[in-house]
Amino acid sequence: MIGIFDSGIGGLTVVKSIIDHLPEYDITYFGDTARTPYGTKSCNTILKYASENTQFLLDHGAKIIVIACNTASSIATKYLRQKYNNIIPVFEVISPAVKLCLKTSTKNRIGVIGTRATINSNIYEKKIVEKQPSAKVFSVPCPLLVPLVEEGWEKKPETKMILKKYLHPLKTKQIDSLILGCTHYPVLKQIIQEKIGKRVKIIDSSIAVTKEISEYICQNPHICKSLGKNNKSHFFVSDITDQFKKTAESILKKNIDLKSSGGTS
Ligand code: DGL
Repeated sequence: MIGIFDSGIGGLTVVKSIIDHLPEYDITYFGDTARTPYGTKSCNTILKYASENTQFLLDHGAKIIVIACNTASSIATKYLRQKYNNIIPVFEVISPAVKLCLKTSTKNRIGVIGTRATINSNIYEKKIVEKQPSAKVFSVPCPLLVPLVEEGWEKKPETKMILKKYLHPLKTKQIDSLILGCTHYPVLKQIIQEKIGKRVKIIDSSIAVTKEISEYICQNPHICKSLGKNNKSHFFVSDITDQFKKTAESILKKNIDLKSSGGTS
């Protein structure tokens, strides 16, 4: 089974992409709804949560781990890989997005939006400039977007107004691509595209990481064999709420059976 975790609901955009492109593979999702958001937490706390979430998925039989959260990816990837990599491959969402972005960007003027923790970590700029030293990266933290998505407010005028304000500094920088550096943001993709302009290419890490997982499975038949292929999905959260279920079903466009992780994430 492919084990995927996020701080809450955002990682479901990654799940949706994996289900759409690799439908036969069994997946288990863990959303840490009791402790969300991660974007405002300290590095030590994020490391602790990411490690506990990984252990939860391993205990449920994960053979691949996907950190479907940019915040946890930026802070905890190295740590989780050191801790688990000889047991299991650990995927994150940042490098695949950077790779896809550099492939599509023509002027190498790149915008990045994300949570405060992700933007403060400077991880996107570091990874982009490492691969393309002449690239210019412009990053903007957008802390209000996560709660708006969690509340299912993606079509409200207030959300459009907030997005316009967040994206304004990027509009003056003549970017040609914009990385959605938070797994919640693909839910807002259409409005983001509207506000930033149709000439800017939107880079969605959920699509980028799915491509990477798919290639990895093809190249590693022993891992492919160990993954269940019964088209089954299980969804766990550390705190069940009706709102989560409603928003999750609207992201996945299907009904889900939501289970509690039983306080052990
Ligand atoms: N989904 C998380 C990310 O991709 C953000 C939510 C949070 O702050 O916990 O960064």
